[in-house]
Amino acid sequence: PVPRPLAGKRVLITAGPTHEPIDPVRYIANRSSGKQGFAIAAAAQAAGAEVILVSGPVDLDDPAGVTVRHVESARHMLEQVEAALPVDIAIFAAAVADWRVASEGAQKLKKTSAGMPPLQLVENPDILATISKMKDKRPPLVIGFAAETEHLIDNAKAKLKRKGCDWIVANDVSPATGVMGGDRNTVHLLSKNSEKDGDIAVDSWPVMTKEQVATELVTHIAKS
Ligand code: C5P
Repeated sequence: PVPRPLAGKRVLITAGPTHEPIDPVRYIANRSSGKQGFAIAAAAQAAGAEVILVSGPVDLDDPAGVTVRHVESARHMLEQVEAALPVDIAIFAAAVADWRVASEGAQKLKKTSAGMPPLQLVENPDILATISKMKDKRPPLVIGFAAETEHLIDNAKAKLKRKGCDWIVANDVSPATGVMGGDRNTVHLLSKNSEKDGDIAVDSWPVMTKEQVATELVTHIAKS
């Protein structure tokens, strides 16, 4: 029989970018293929979990056996994440846009001789921090991602504390790595050390495919 270490667990995963509309034809977005989040969804499903995947716009097929909620903006993503609770494990792999335009244009903005349209930005909700800090429905294990181009471990440690999650998967996404849109990833798993309060353990993994990272993460979750 196939081992199903996550049988009976409900797992929520966010993936992909979000699109924040400027007007009916334009948007602000982060670069994200969604591949890592989709691979985690597939690996968790294969491990026997009930999986809900909340995905921004991506060019990927829905993983088999996974409930997929397709969203556009960060606010829609937060709504669908909240609707999926309670879950046992929540993994936030989406590259959420930090800002959105304060008031979306009802019509396409036109070029005029008056110059550029002023775009007023407002901050989007931080989905990972919101869920990590929940009082009632906080999932027992909350995992965030930290994609950084410099000072990877220090930035990831600060992020773990600031967001209030339990683990951070840190990865170097500087252009030379080819991680963005690519099939491989080099990650470090940071976790709060429950014995030594405030201590953060760093586990550095060798370069792997995004599928292997997903399988390894699921193995760590099953052991936690
Ligand atoms: O702050 P930063 O975007 O680098 O944090 C990355 C982590 O936070 C990822 O897990 C990402 O999915 C999550 N995040 C989020 N909502 C935001 C911004 C980031 O869930 N608005």
